[in-house]
Amino acid sequence: MAATLLPTLSPPVSRAAALLLRRAPPKPFPLPSPLLRRLLAPTSSPPIHSPTFRSHATMPSAAAAGGGCRATPDRGDLLMLGIETSCDDTAAAVVRGDGQILSQVVSSQEDLLARYGGVSPKMAEEAHALAIDQVVQKALDDANVSESDLCAVAVTVGPGLSLCLRVGVHKARKIAKAFRLPIVGVHHMEAHALVSRLVNKDLDFPFLALLISGGHNLLVLAHGLGQYVQLGTTIDDAIGEAYDKSARWLGLDIRKGGGPALEELALEGDPNAIKFRVPMRQHKDCNFSYAGLKTQVRLAIESRNICASDIPISSATEEDRQLRADIAASFQRVAVLHLEERCQRAVEWALKIEPAIKYFVVSGGVASNQCVRTHLNHIAEKNGLQLVCPPPSLCTDNGVMIAWTGIEHFIAGRFDDPPAADEPDDMQYELRPRWPLGEEYSEGRSVARSMKTARVHPSLTSMIQGSVH
Ligand code: KG4
Ligand code: ZN
Repeated sequence: MAATLLPTLSPPVSRAAALLLRRAPPKPFPLPSPLLRRLLAPTSSPPIHSPTFRSHATMPSAAAAGGGCRATPDRGDLLMLGIETSCDDTAAAVVRGDGQILSQVVSSQEDLLARYGGVSPKMAEEAHALAIDQVVQKALDDANVSESDLCAVAVTVGPGLSLCLRVGVHKARKIAKAFRLPIVGVHHMEAHALVSRLVNKDLDFPFLALLISGGHNLLVLAHGLGQYVQLGTTIDDAIGEAYDKSARWLGLDIRKGGGPALEELALEGDPNAIKFRVPMRQHKDCNFSYAGLKTQVRLAIESRNICASDIPISSATEEDRQLRADIAASFQRVAVLHLEERCQRAVEWALKIEPAIKYFVVSGGVASNQCVRTHLNHIAEKNGLQLVCPPPSLCTDNGVMIAWTGIEHFIAGRFDDPPAADEPDDMQYELRPRWPLGEEYSEGRSVARSMKTARVHPSLTSMIQGSVH
């Protein structure tokens, strides 16, 4: 039997309400109890149990920094553990309902990637399994809390590698079972988008978001929590994949990631040295393609007789280094120009659908890139929008974004009951390795699309809408 993780519908709860839930798991759609109503009322009396917090935040919340805040006092008592294992980072964090980050721990597999030239799902699973207990324990210790202080556990259930997702979900369910905690199953890409609402508390729906990572290139119109329209996606590779492969082919030291290594080398190069072709200009939509640009980089390296596989950049001659830097800079110019062109069109589409949009969110690992941030800020400004780009530590995979998305859904009443006390340890969970975020915008369907259309799961948006009606 497979356990489901999302969506479920129960009434909104606060921490104190969750304490009650732990004693008596809710029936579907119960009416809010008098206590719950009192806690949710704007003038609610102090929560039953209000733990004191030491200042362990790794980043001040926007509220603490003087930003506007939607949070009610109840939210400050809500403590969420977030667990992320969908790809090659094992991450966990504890976040408070008002956005205060109490801890953030990431154990990266970049080292494995650099050493073996890629990681097989089995290897990644083993690395997660080795790290998960320590990572979660450190997140709890750094936050100075124990499992019994938590209101719920949020965990990524997709998209990602099944073997890897399973490690995180298994850990989350183990904690949830032992401490009678509700679970929130999180969509990894929604988490990349929503962490921007932790960073900027004024950021309300609807907004436009570009989510750029190693495996995804998504342009979405965010109508609300769990409600997205997909304006564009990649028809082949994501931009992060193109950065990673190009960095490897250029012989860069990729122990801290291919993207950052290429960005650094590009600073030394001439972005106009090589005229790479900008992808998909003939397609007047918002979809992306990076496979062709990747091939252009490989051909540029081969035609200049750069022996990057034998000679790492650290041993290259000055002339050789300059050639590689020119390729890196030229690649980056076109990679980012492709983003700009598709984003400009997406802004126009988004404003046509939702004229109220004020914000343009850019998130995901590649959004840490300074060149990407600068150019997309121009697009935002040109169109009268405000760019919201989380700090790099929240752009790359992290547990904070999972905890925060868990908080958003938990408060909206979307979570699962604690696992049954007799749930077997080898329980098969429902994971969503291929899980679209939203439904495709009809004008956005690519005629160039050929691959990667197989869907295993209905989109998050259709699941949530299905459960509402
Ligand atoms: O979101 P993320 O951490 O993991 C996935 O969900 O895939 O994104 C990882 C991707 C990698 O391809 C990495 O090389 C890229 O983000 N990345 C960058 C930079 N930092 C991370 N790409 C370009 N420039 C960067 N500074
Ligand atoms: Zn990611």
